[in-house]
Amino acid sequence: MWLICCSALLWSLRMGTMPRPKLLLLLVLCVLGTDAVDRSNFKTCDQSSFCKRHRNLQPGMSPYRALMDTVQMTPEGLSMKVLNTRNKVELQLLLAAVNVNTARLTIDEVNPIRERFRPTDALSKEPTIAEASILAQDDNSVTLGFLQNKAVVTSDPFRIDFLVDDELAISVNSRGLMKFEQYRKRKNNDEPAEGQENEENQDGEKQEGEGEEEKPVEEEDEPGMWEETFKSHHDSKPHGPSSVGLDFSFPGVEHVYGIPEHADSFALKTTTSGEPYRLYNLDVFEYELHNPMALYGSIPVMIAHNAQRTVGLFWMNAAETWIDISSNTAGKTVFGKMLDYVKGGSEMPQTDTHWISESGVIDVFFMLGPRPAEVFSQYTDLTGKPAMPPLFAIAYHQSRWNYNDEEDVKNVDAGFDDNDIPYDVLWLDIEHTDGKRYMTWDKHKFPHPIDMQDRVAAKGRKMVVIVDPHIKRDDNYHIHKDAKDHGYYVKSKDGGDFEGWCWPGSSSYLDFINPTVRSWWASRFELGTFEGSTKNLFIWNDMNEPSVFNGPEVTMHKDAVHYGGWEHRDVHNIFGMYLPKSTYLGLMQRSNNKERPFVLSRAFFAGYHRYGAVWTGDNTAEWGHLQISIPMLLSLSVTGQSFVGADVGGFFKNPDPELLLRWYQAAAYQPFFRAHAHLDTRRREPWLFDKETMNGIREAIRARYALLPYWYTLFYQAATHGMPIMRPLWVEFPEDTSTFATEDEYMIGNALLAHPVTDAGASGVQVHLPGEGQVWYDVDTYKKYNGGSTEYIPVTLTKIPVFQRGGTIVPRKERIRRASSLTNRDPYTFTIALDKQGTATGELFVDDGHSFKYRDNNRFLHKNYLFENNKLISRTMDMNGEFDTKSWVERIIIIGLPKAPTTVTIDGIRDIMIDKKNLEFRYTPDTQTLVIRKPAVNVAQNWSITLQ
Ligand code: NOJ
Repeated sequence: MWLICCSALLWSLRMGTMPRPKLLLLLVLCVLGTDAVDRSNFKTCDQSSFCKRHRNLQPGMSPYRALMDTVQMTPEGLSMKVLNTRNKVELQLLLAAVNVNTARLTIDEVNPIRERFRPTDALSKEPTIAEASILAQDDNSVTLGFLQNKAVVTSDPFRIDFLVDDELAISVNSRGLMKFEQYRKRKNNDEPAEGQENEENQDGEKQEGEGEEEKPVEEEDEPGMWEETFKSHHDSKPHGPSSVGLDFSFPGVEHVYGIPEHADSFALKTTTSGEPYRLYNLDVFEYELHNPMALYGSIPVMIAHNAQRTVGLFWMNAAETWIDISSNTAGKTVFGKMLDYVKGGSEMPQTDTHWISESGVIDVFFMLGPRPAEVFSQYTDLTGKPAMPPLFAIAYHQSRWNYNDEEDVKNVDAGFDDNDIPYDVLWLDIEHTDGKRYMTWDKHKFPHPIDMQDRVAAKGRKMVVIVDPHIKRDDNYHIHKDAKDHGYYVKSKDGGDFEGWCWPGSSSYLDFINPTVRSWWASRFELGTFEGSTKNLFIWNDMNEPSVFNGPEVTMHKDAVHYGGWEHRDVHNIFGMYLPKSTYLGLMQRSNNKERPFVLSRAFFAGYHRYGAVWTGDNTAEWGHLQISIPMLLSLSVTGQSFVGADVGGFFKNPDPELLLRWYQAAAYQPFFRAHAHLDTRRREPWLFDKETMNGIREAIRARYALLPYWYTLFYQAATHGMPIMRPLWVEFPEDTSTFATEDEYMIGNALLAHPVTDAGASGVQVHLPGEGQVWYDVDTYKKYNGGSTEYIPVTLTKIPVFQRGGTIVPRKERIRRASSLTNRDPYTFTIALDKQGTATGELFVDDGHSFKYRDNNRFLHKNYLFENNKLISRTMDMNGEFDTKSWVERIIIIGLPKAPTTVTIDGIRDIMIDKKNLEFRYTPDTQTLVIRKPAVNVAQNWSITLQ
C-alpha cells in the first residue's frame, strides 16, 4: 500500500489532477505506511448485506417446495417448478445428467423482470445432455436415474439427494438454507407494497399447494438491499437485492478442498467461528496467511474426498461469493473420535457447506467421480483441458520489478551464462513502458527492444513483458484513443467511461465482456501493431481483478456497467479472465494459430486453465509464505489450474540466503518456476549471494532442467486428461486417510514425491511415504524406504527431499544447457524404480516443444515403458503420432534390482531392425542399482532390453 500510495501521490502532485480530499487521504496512508494487510479495506460477511442475510438463515426453516404436478421430463432434463411458500414466488428448476457421471442443477426465476448473468465462458462448450430417466415418482418425490447414479428430488421439504451406487454422496438443501432473491421493483413508500407477487399471483391465479387463505407474506426491505456504503464508497444497487444461496452436504466426508484463492490450508477449515471463505477477485496488499479473505482469483469448485469416494461441485456463478463450511467432527480430537468409536456411538462424519452469491442464477455441476482422476476428468470435460504450454514456459523464469534497461537485461542474461545457471525467460515489469502505457517502450531505457529480444533469443531464450488492463487516459496514447473513440471502456453508473486510479494515474478499463473488445485487444498483439515486439516475446497480464487503487476494496464499483447492460457485480469474478483469454487469442493470431502461447495472469476464474498459468501474487519473503505456497498451489491444482507457481524468494522484503535457497529448491519442483521481486527489494540474482547459496540454487535449477522431459509429459497428460500435475498425496493414495490433511509434501505426477524444506535451520524433515506394501527411493541416494511409514530424512543445505515411487519410470535429460530449447537433440536417461514385484511403468511425450503440430499434424511421440520379468520394453503408446528426433537413450538406471544380471542385451521389437547386442552395465549391490550404459537407440524406436 505504501508504495501504491506514494507513487499515486507523487504522480498526482506532479500532474495536479487529483481532488484535494483524495490527495489528503493518500497523504495520510502514505505517511502512516503499513506493513500488513489492512483488513479494514476489505468487507466481512457482515458488511456485505446479502451475505449477512443468507448467513442469518436458520437451518430447517426452508420455505421452498418442489411442485410435483409440474414435473416433466424434457430433452434438457427433469424440469419442475419450485415455490417459495412464503412469498409465493415460483422458480424454474432443471436437473440434467450431462457428459459422464455429472449432473447439472439450474434454478432461475420464472418470469424475471431482469435477466441474470451466466458465466458460461467458464465452460469450453455446452455440456452434452446424457441419458437419464425417471425411475420412480410419488406424491413427494421423483427419482432421476443416470448411469450408476440417482438424484432424488423431494418436494417438501425441498431437497435433492445424489446417490452413487445407492450410497448418498451429496445432499442439496438438506439444511434448508436455499434463498433466491427475485428481482423486484422498489417499493414506493406511498403505495401499498407490491410484495413479491409474480404475474400469476397478481392475476389472482392460485398456486399449486397454496392454502385457500394464504397470502404472499410481504418481505420487508432490509438495510443494504437497495444501496450500500462501504467506507467512502457508495453502491447504488439500482436493481435491488438479487442474491442466491444454497447448501450442499457431503455425508461421510471429513475433508473438502479447493475454492481457491485463499492463503490458507489445503484441507479447508470450518468457518463456524469466523468468516466464511470469500471468492471475490481482489488485489490484497501484503496478504495474511491462514485467512479465508478473498485474493486475486476465484475458482468456485470444491472437491470432497473420503477413502471410498471423491466428488466435486462447481458453483458456476461469477458474482461475489461466500462459502461457509461446517462439520460434525470438526471440533473433535482424534481421542474424542476414538472414544465415540469405542462407545459404539460414532456418528458418520459429514461436511456441510453453504454457498452464497450476490447475483446470477443457481447453476451447479456435480462431478460424481467416484475416483479423484475421474472428478478431474469430469471437471475438465466441462471447462476444457488445460493449455499445453511451450517447453520454455515450464523451465526457469527470471523476473523482477524491474530490469532497468537494455544494459541490465544484457548483464543479467550474461550472468546466468557466466555462472553456468540455465534459464529460459527474462521478464520486464511495468517500468519498461513509456509511462505505464502498455505495449509501448520507454525510449530511453529500451531504445532497441527488437535487438534486445533478438539477442536473448539467439541464446535460445525468450522474453516476457507485462501488459495490464487499465489504460492511461491520454489522448496521445493510441490504445486509449481507439478505446475511447470506439466506446470500449467499462461505463460508470452514470454512463461515462469508468475512471479509476492505477499505475498510470487516471485510467479507464477495457470492457472485455464485449466480444468486439476482445477481438480488438487480440489484434493489438500482431507483430506490426505491437511495436517493438517479436515472436519471442510473451505476455504477463497483471492487475486484472481489476485493481482500482481508489475503488471500493481496491477494485471496480459494483454498479459500473458492462456491455450487455450487466453490472460489474454480476461479472466481477470472471471479468479478470477475459484479459488473458484475449491475450491468448492475440498470441494465437500472431502466429497464425501455429505457436502455443504463453500467458501468465494474476486474476482467474474457472476455465482459465485453457489459456495459461497463474501465480499467487504478492507474497512475502518469509518462511510462512514459502510454506503456504504448497497448499495454495495444491488448491489451484485440484480445481483444474495445474500451471501454477509462487514468486520465488517472496515478492516483498528481502529473503536471507537460506530462505532464498530453500525457495528455489521448493519451486524447482512446482509447475511454474519464476523468481520475482518488488521494486524496493535488493537485487537477488543467484550470483549476488555467497558461493554455497549460489551453488545450491544452481543445483536446484539444474535438477529442474534434467527433469523437464518428465514435467513435459505431465503437462501433456494434464492437457489430454485434466490430471493435475502437482497432486495431493490422496490423489495417488485415495484410501490412505493419513494423507488427507497433508500439505507439506505432494506428488509430481504419479512417480515423484517432494517434501521441500520450508523451515529455517532445518536439519531434517519428517516425510510420510504413503502406500502400505509399496516402496520408495530417495532420488539422490537411491536409498529404499517402505511405503506406509514416516521417515526422518536428514538434510543439508543442498538436499531437496524427493522420492521416486517403486513401480514408476522417470525420463530425464542430464546434459544441462543454458536453455531448454538447446536440449532438443539431447539423449535421455530413464530411471526405473522397481516395486516389490520387480515391475515399473512410465511414459514419455515428445514433440517440437512449441507448435500445435502435435495436435494438428500428429507430430509427436507418446511412448510407454514397461519393465517386468527382467525385461524393459519401449512401445509406442499412441500410434497416431510420429516425430523425427535425434534424441537417443543414453542410460538406464534400474533401482531396487535384487541381484546383478550376467548379461544385458538390447533387441528390436517386431519389424524394427536393431542389431541385438550386449550392453555395458554396472551393478551397485549397496543400493541394488543397475546402470546400463549407452543402449544408443533412438527414443522414437521400439525396443526391449533383457537382463539375464
Ligand atoms: C503487482 C504484481 O503482483 C507484481 O508481481 C508486479 O511486480 C507489480 N504489480 C508491478 O507490476
